[in-house]
Amino acid sequence: MYRIVTGDCRELLNDVSDVSAVITDPPYGLEIGRTDWDGDVPSSDTWLRVRQRCRPGALLLAFGHALTYHHLATAVEAGGWKIMPMLAWIYGNAPAHGMQVGAMNTRLRNAVEPICCALNPPSTSLRECIEQTGLAGFRVDAARIPSLDGHGRFPSNVILDDSDSVQLAFPFARSGSQVTGDEPTQRAARDSDLYGRFGARKAASHAYGDDGSASRFFYCARASRAEKHAAGPNPVPTVKPVALMQYLVELACPPGGLVLDPFCGSGSTGIAVMRSKQGRRFVGIEARSDHAEYARRRCELEDVDGEL
Ligand SMILES: C[S@@+](CC[C@H](N)C(=O)[O-])C[C@H]1O[C@@H](n2cnc3c(N)ncnc32)[C@H](O)[C@@H]1O
Repeated sequence: MYRIVTGDCRELLNDVSDVSAVITDPPYGLEIGRTDWDGDVPSSDTWLRVRQRCRPGALLLAFGHALTYHHLATAVEAGGWKIMPMLAWIYGNAPAHGMQVGAMNTRLRNAVEPICCALNPPSTSLRECIEQTGLAGFRVDAARIPSLDGHGRFPSNVILDDSDSVQLAFPFARSGSQVTGDEPTQRAARDSDLYGRFGARKAASHAYGDDGSASRFFYCARASRAEKHAAGPNPVPTVKPVALMQYLVELACPPGGLVLDPFCGSGSTGIAVMRSKQGRRFVGIEARSDHAEYARRRCELEDVDGEL
């Protein structure tokens, strides 16, 4: 079930309570595509107001930009959140934005989006909070990376897309690791040219831990055109892939919990919550009426239970 509210989240947050996880993609402070909504990274006061609507132990996952991530993390921390190690979404095919002067350029191609991770500190110990509420930790068993042995791999804080450049940067089985190569990625499964030379794949051993190859990471392609424009032309230029958001939802929010996205854009987080099922609910807040209306249309296409 979902609810999308139109307006400034700083004013509307008082109507929200008992949030189990905040999963959001706020303005990066870059004026992306000459938008009128990307001027500033949200302030510490905004993150404080968000936190006050959350249950103790709730996790926050907020996308940032490589250039302005430090502002995001500092503001989140100043809003009373406890900063945890960040996640990284790594993708290929990113355009180069710098100034080329002869053989030099002022920027590298940006191929990573940091995801700020933070905790609403509980008054009890983390163990007690986890045991009593199911919050304050990652749902690692629900988010294991599929492996052929059926056990799944322990999730890491790196998420990759399926572009050639990323896949080639994280090849299978390197430097004597335990990887035996049982793990076709989404791309490998359909692109035998790229990975065919590794030959037949053996069954996985349980020894897969935290070292080895790219196979231990979660893979997620960037949002396809069809996905972005599922409800007609999407007015939001920065649409996140639903599969990526669903992975984060399942990692951070217990079944039955309420997910808040205070900067919901065209509603990718909401769709992800509905796809994750298990009784999770969604509240999205969006300042621009055209974005909010589009988010509602996208969520309507998805939802079977109706609005909250
Ligand atoms: C990066 S976009 C989110 C895109 C979203 N992840 C998607 O997949 O469509 C950020 C959104 O935050 C909205 N926004 C900016 N400031 C806001 C505020 N104070 N309250 C609510 N929404 C705001 C913008 O209008 C924009 O739609």
